[in-house]
Amino acid sequence: MTPRHARTALATLALACVATLGHAQQGKLKVGLMLPFSGTYTALGAAIENGFKLRVEEQGGKLGGREIEYVRVDDESDPAKATDNVNKLIKRDNVDVIVGTVHSGVAMAMAKAAKESGTVLIVPNAGADAVTGPMCAPNIFRSSFSNWQPAYAMGEVAAKQGKKKAITITWKYAAGDESVGGFREGFEKNGGQVVKQLNVPFPNVEFQALLTEIAAAKPDAVYAFFAGGGAVKFVKDYAAAGLNKTIPLYGPGFLTDGTLDAQGDAAQGMLTTLHYADGLGTPRDNAFRTAYAKAYKLQPDVYAVQGYDAAQMLAIGLAAVKGDISKKAEFASAIEKAKIDSPRGPFSISKSHNPVQDIYLRKVEGKENKMVSIAVKNLADPARGCKL
Ligand code: PHB
Repeated sequence: MTPRHARTALATLALACVATLGHAQQGKLKVGLMLPFSGTYTALGAAIENGFKLRVEEQGGKLGGREIEYVRVDDESDPAKATDNVNKLIKRDNVDVIVGTVHSGVAMAMAKAAKESGTVLIVPNAGADAVTGPMCAPNIFRSSFSNWQPAYAMGEVAAKQGKKKAITITWKYAAGDESVGGFREGFEKNGGQVVKQLNVPFPNVEFQALLTEIAAAKPDAVYAFFAGGGAVKFVKDYAAAGLNKTIPLYGPGFLTDGTLDAQGDAAQGMLTTLHYADGLGTPRDNAFRTAYAKAYKLQPDVYAVQGYDAAQMLAIGLAAVKGDISKKAEFASAIEKAKIDSPRGPFSISKSHNPVQDIYLRKVEGKENKMVSIAVKNLADPARGCKL
């Protein structure tokens, strides 16, 4: 080969390399969806996936110029399997982003793995206070709520309605404990008192003995944290015991969101607090609801909104780095500065990466959690223990 030929060959090789690199950068972005696709939270996982994919489809299947590829893992809402499941996504599948999950115990294991590996994690439900508290990290974001947020608002509302003594009842795990803690804080600050805390193991739905205990104690109100299949059963059992006629049942909106078809008469008139409601009537929410109903032949709920907004947050971060998610600081900074145009109403992200958002008071009417008022405006989680 003459020197000139050698130079040409080298140049061609160099060009080929650049082309390959460029191609890799524009290759598919792998999103690991780690959600419950079985068990009491199955419907919640499905709604989150639907919401996320709806937003991606609205963007032509691409975010930040990159086509999206999904890897799905059923986490079974089982904390004991969580570390293995999340490490499969990070180490075996080499995902670029993880989106998950519903259950707070599983989410804490995911946050730990994400913090260690630096993989971007967007939590589309689980409220574990620790995720945006002591475990907060530059690469961890939440599109949903902290367990404290809707619970604190419900405590204020119940006290302001003149309720003095309340009993709480929940599944015994992080989300239930923190929800009850938030309710107690809001309730007791405003003159109420939590006189008893009742618990059942997750995801057990044998409520009879505890309902008998509530009937005997006759508190002014009951505050319950349950969701999905468990919420359906609890609200129906509460009404079947006749308690809904004498002791108002309050809760964070999970108690009646996505569950009203199954709860029917048992849920009518219930008041709950949440960062989403039916009947908001804004153009943004109307457009979202129409698109969701068209795509899935289903009405959306709070979980669908949280999935949709997880995709919106990812889109904002990826647009800022033109699809190159290795630019972690720029990716995070774009989301931190954004106003996310959510169906729930626009929200921003706190320093600890949790939504700062309005909490609505809702009332069950027929198949809807109708918006009554804004219970607390622009509520930020206290983010206790987050050093960012
Ligand atoms: C949670 O475990 O954090 C959790 C699960 C279901 C909900 C809300 C919170 O609806």
